[in-house]
Amino acid sequence: MKILSRGILISLEGIDGSGKSTLARNLHIHLANQGLDTILTREPGGSALGKKLRTILQEKEVNVCDKAEYLLFAADRAQHFDELVIPALNERKLVISDRMADSSVVYQGYGRGLSIELIQTINTWAMHNIKPDITIYVQVPVEIALQRITKRKEMLSSFERERLDFTQRLIGGFEKLFHQRRDVIIVNGQLPADEVCEQAFDAVIKNIQALNVIS
Ligand code: TYD
Repeated sequence: MKILSRGILISLEGIDGSGKSTLARNLHIHLANQGLDTILTREPGGSALGKKLRTILQEKEVNVCDKAEYLLFAADRAQHFDELVIPALNERKLVISDRMADSSVVYQGYGRGLSIELIQTINTWAMHNIKPDITIYVQVPVEIALQRITKRKEMLSSFERERLDFTQRLIGGFEKLFHQRRDVIIVNGQLPADEVCEQAFDAVIKNIQALNVIS
């Protein structure tokens, strides 16, 4: 087992259907195979409370307004950091999270129109000022994402039209947010899963080496 001189946090981001969760699983296996003490987690749902919140957020059995929705994601995040992320980083583990704070900036900020500044402030507070060392963005071009939604139909239902507009805002949001961020690795989500993993794995290893944490 390779021991890191400090914990490393990696977040994975991208729109729904970008292949992000498959990449998270594959990357976890590849990094663990390198002898790195790696754990895979996710938001929402990385803690016991988070699993309950995830059910509320997904099933939408009760009405949840936009602000309440964000605060539920933030509550999940606070519990996730307190219960899992911070202890694992203190144990010098490599933590991979399928989504994290940037998802809220993009989905609740760019997507739903809530204040991005406020979201970033609350995220920072929930995360005890800890930021991911590396963020991997699984990029899918707007045209491909839209094709997946419309499936080349001429007439769209109002639900599909709404989803299409929302997805367009999400992609625009991710691109704007990640445009000049040096901690972000962009991988091509259109490639086969093993190639996406190879791209991400090579970049992560290079970045970890640059951080000088492997003894
Ligand atoms: P996702 O990881 O896509 O779940 P699954 O892989 O099972 O589809 O995340 C669930 C949804 O929650 C997804 O549509 C994105 C959304 N989400 C937000 O809107 N804000 C957030 O802060 C997070 C973490 C997720």
